[in-house]
Amino acid sequence: MALVQTTGPSARAVSEVVRLDGHVLDSLVLVKVLDTIVDAGASYKILELDVGTTNRDESHVRIEVSCPDEAALGALLERVQVHGVNREGQEEAHLVPVDQDGVLPDDFYSTTNLPTWVRLSGHWVEVGQPEMDCAVVVDLDGTTARTLPMHRARRGDRVVVGMHGVRVAPPRRSAGPGEFAFMTSEVSSEKPKGLTVERVAATLRRARLHDVGGQSRGILAVCGPAVVHTGAAPALAALVREGWVQALFAGNGFATHDIEAAVLGTSLGVPLSGAEPSEHGHANHLRVINTVRRFGSIANAVDAGWLRRGVLYECVRAGVPFVLGGSVRDDGPLPDVISDTAAAADAMREHLGGIGVALMLASTLHAIATGNLLPATVETFCVDINQAVVTKLADRGSHQALGIVTDVGLFVGDLADLLCGPDWRAQVTRGP
Ligand SMILES: NC(=O)c1ccc[n+]([C@@H]2O[C@H](COP(=O)([O-])OP(=O)(O)OC[C@H]3O[C@@H](n4cnc5c(N)ncnc54)[C@H](O)[C@@H]3O)[C@@H](O)[C@H]2O)c1
Repeated sequence: MALVQTTGPSARAVSEVVRLDGHVLDSLVLVKVLDTIVDAGASYKILELDVGTTNRDESHVRIEVSCPDEAALGALLERVQVHGVNREGQEEAHLVPVDQDGVLPDDFYSTTNLPTWVRLSGHWVEVGQPEMDCAVVVDLDGTTARTLPMHRARRGDRVVVGMHGVRVAPPRRSAGPGEFAFMTSEVSSEKPKGLTVERVAATLRRARLHDVGGQSRGILAVCGPAVVHTGAAPALAALVREGWVQALFAGNGFATHDIEAAVLGTSLGVPLSGAEPSEHGHANHLRVINTVRRFGSIANAVDAGWLRRGVLYECVRAGVPFVLGGSVRDDGPLPDVISDTAAAADAMREHLGGIGVALMLASTLHAIATGNLLPATVETFCVDINQAVVTKLADRGSHQALGIVTDVGLFVGDLADLLCGPDWRAQVTRGP
């Protein structure tokens, strides 16, 4: 560790040398890091800058950062670590045992969603299941480490405290031309939508190809009720049926309206055929919830032959797991909804292994909740009519997300056209 005291006007200032390695120039990561340092009222000196000789080469930068005091320096290093900035040095990670179930040591290291390593007994050990806003727990013999959500901490768990002996890597840049570029935090609102949909379709095709090659890269769909309201449920159902979705996260609203549309042909009482809303249509979704509660689960409703189409029907038929997380807005709720939100997040975590691409479709709540759980290496597309949602997702730490500001109904329909061919549209006209 290079901790030095500076002299001059700020005689008590402290400095530390940090490193940044990777594709940090073309992804503008270095610029973001330097901006963050200056915005924090600190100063920097670039000690080394090795940019390689081709644009495939990684760059290596050593920066001396100076702050007025240790507290400011610690806070700043935490902020720049989300961009892959690491302290120099080989110091061991500091471990402290948990002394109360569900409570972490005060100075616990708070994780980013980047690939992370901790230094244990002279070796860098990769942290399993990268997830932001967690702690890092080390097993008893000190050879493995994994992220630990606060509520899962148990007395005696050995948790990393402080930032010493912790390293992160910015996500690697994609390998081929036209591939998804990580760390761009792009929002596409004024670009041709056709090209954007093609880019998403190409990413999903690549994910499936990798599956064939033995490398699991599942596709996760995260859905809000607007998917059904805009008439996109049949397109999403076709994507599930044809193997383009390996896990689905949503809430009571999406699931209820998907089933309402499948059984009654309405979404929140509005006929999806375009007909005039019927007088008592507003209660349709409540009647649907009530009936599914009588069946005991959505799968039972499918087995009984009552639910015969729709997104969740296709999930049950294809064995695609779904997690329905609860909220205080929920009517009913459906029996499959997990109303304990910590338990819902745990259930979502169970399905993230092997997920390579996430499609967030018109849900602020569930998109951001899922973004909090995903490693930065998962290629993420957030489709929403409101630019603030996709910006918020990136601001919350999901820097890898590509925001697509558009109507979800048009987007999912176009995606199904590209991936499933035009035949799925014939099923829509048949209706419930
Ligand atoms: N009856 C019910 O029980 C019921 C009904 C609705 C929602 N909920 C629950 O409330 C919680 C929050 O709901 P939510 O996720 O829908 O709300 P949300 O406000 O978190 O997200 C809705 C999103 O849809 C976007 N959107 C709206 N129209 C769109 C369009 N045409 N194209 C693209 N994006 C569009 C909005 O911009 C917004 O981001 C969820 O858990 C949900 O299940 C329950």
